[in-house]
Parts: sequence; structure tokens; C-alpha cells
Amino acid sequence: MRSLYIYGAGNLGREVVELVEDGTQGAEQYTVKGFIDDSYPSGTLISGIETMNLTELSSEFSELGNCALAIALGNPAERERAYGKLASVNLVNKLVSLVSRRATLSNQAFVGSGTLIFPHATIGTKAMVGDNVLIYFDSLISHDVDILSHCSILSKVVVGGGSKIAESSFVGMGALVRERLSIGKNCVIGMGSVVTQSVGEGTVVFGNPARRVESYQGKGIFKS
Ligand SMILES: CC(C)(COP(=O)(O)OP(=O)(O)OC[C@H]1O[C@@H](n2cnc3c(N)ncnc32)[C@H](O)[C@@H]1OP(=O)(O)O)[C@@H](O)C(=O)NCCC(=O)NCCS
Repeated sequence: MRSLYIYGAGNLGREVVELVEDGTQGAEQYTVKGFIDDSYPSGTLISGIETMNLTELSSEFSELGNCALAIALGNPAERERAYGKLASVNLVNKLVSLVSRRATLSNQAFVGSGTLIFPHATIGTKAMVGDNVLIYFDSLISHDVDILSHCSILSKVVVGGGSKIAESSFVGMGALVRERLSIGKNCVIGMGSVVTQSVGEGTVVFGNPARRVESYQGKGIFKS
């Protein structure tokens, strides 16, 4: 079993622990050794697993050799930042994709590195899911869809065939994206939206049909 460190000890981090314990696709299986999270003092126990700070990581990796990493942050901007931090300490090549054994992946689909695919998600034929993407429970990524790096696709999202979602966009739970549309970089698609038209870069939309929210103050994707 290869040792795995999870970047992010929040709720998504704990769910990644369960995903890994339940089993992932592919020959390599993992055992979770620690969380990396600078918001906790090093050595804090979360679900029985110790946290460490990013600065401790490089030495841990040189001692332990063939370890793997996964980023468990739901906000695309935070995940992209974490990816940059790992790149700055030359650890981005340690990111592995974790595809639940309960997810359905076409053998004609492509999944990049550092991507998380949760149980009951389906990735259709010739779909392309880039690096450091999150595909959460029960989502359907149809045939020929492109999901580019750092995107977060929350639960029960359906993306119709041939659509493209550019880097670091967030699609809230239960949203529907019509076929052959294009969603630009850094967009937020609100939960339950019905997206019937393409969405330009950096735009926040929600509703049925989804409309741009002019007054959006960027308060945040998740309420805390
Ligand atoms: C779109 C979103 C980012 C907006 O967040 P926000 O800026 O905090 O917005 P607020 O909650 O302050 O809502 C502002 C207004 O928009 C409405 N609104 C917010 N999200 C909406 C949505 N998805 N559909 C319809 N209306 C929505 C609110 O009812 C509120 O209306 P009001 O001004 O008439 O009272 C957020 O609502 C959303 O959809 N987040 C994704 C949630 C998600 O998928 N979580 C996954 C958890 S696992």
C-alpha cells in the first residue's frame, strides 16, 4: 500500500479518507498517513489522523520515499493555490488521481493527475477531466465533455455532451448544464441552476434559466 497525504483536513479531507478506505480504481491502493493543513497546529488528530504543516512535508517525503498526495479543497481557487504551493516545493508530481471503485468511467475517458472522482459519479465516453479536478458524488459528465484543471463539480451535477468547463470554475450541487455549451474560467454556477447558454469567464450565474448575478459581491461559494 502506498502512503497518502491529504492536503486539507476539512470535511472534504475526511471524505477523501473514506473514498480511499472504500477502494479506488487501478492496481495501486493507498493508506492515509496524514493531513497537510496549516490551519491546525502540527500533530492535531482529525479522524484519528495527524495533521502536519506544509513546511514539514518535504522532509517527510524525502524520508518516506514513494508517498502520494491528494488535494481535498472544495473551492477551486483554494485548490489552485494549493497546487501552486506544492509546485513551489517540487511535489506536484506526487499528486495522484483517486477514482472511487464505485464511480463509472468510460474506457474512452481521460482523467488527469491529482483528480478526485467520488462514488456514483459517471464519466462518459471521450470525456476529458483535467488535473486537480473534483468530481463529487453522483455527478454525470456526459460524452465528449471537457472539464479543465482545478474545477469543482459538486454532487448531482449533470453536464451535457460536448460542453466545456474552463479552469477553476465551480458548479454547485444539482446544476444542469445543457449540451455543447462553454463555461469560461473562474465561473460560479449556483446550486440547482439550469444553464441554457454559454457563460463568459469570471461570471456568477444561478437560477432557472441561469442568469448572471450583476450584484454578486463574491462573498464565497460555501457559507461557513
Ligand atoms: C451562487 C452562490 C455562490 C451565491 O452565494 P452568496 O453570494 O452567498 O449568495 P446569498 O446566499 O447571499 O444569496 C443572495 C441572493 O441570491 C439567492 N440565491 C443564492 N443562490 C441561489 C441559487 N443557487 N439559486 C437561486 N437563487 C439563489 C438568495 O436566495 C438571495 O436572494 P435574496 O437576495 O432575494 O434574498 C451560492 O448560493 C451557491 O449556489 N453556492 C453553491 C452551494 C453548493 O453547491 N454547495 C455544495 C456543498 S457540499
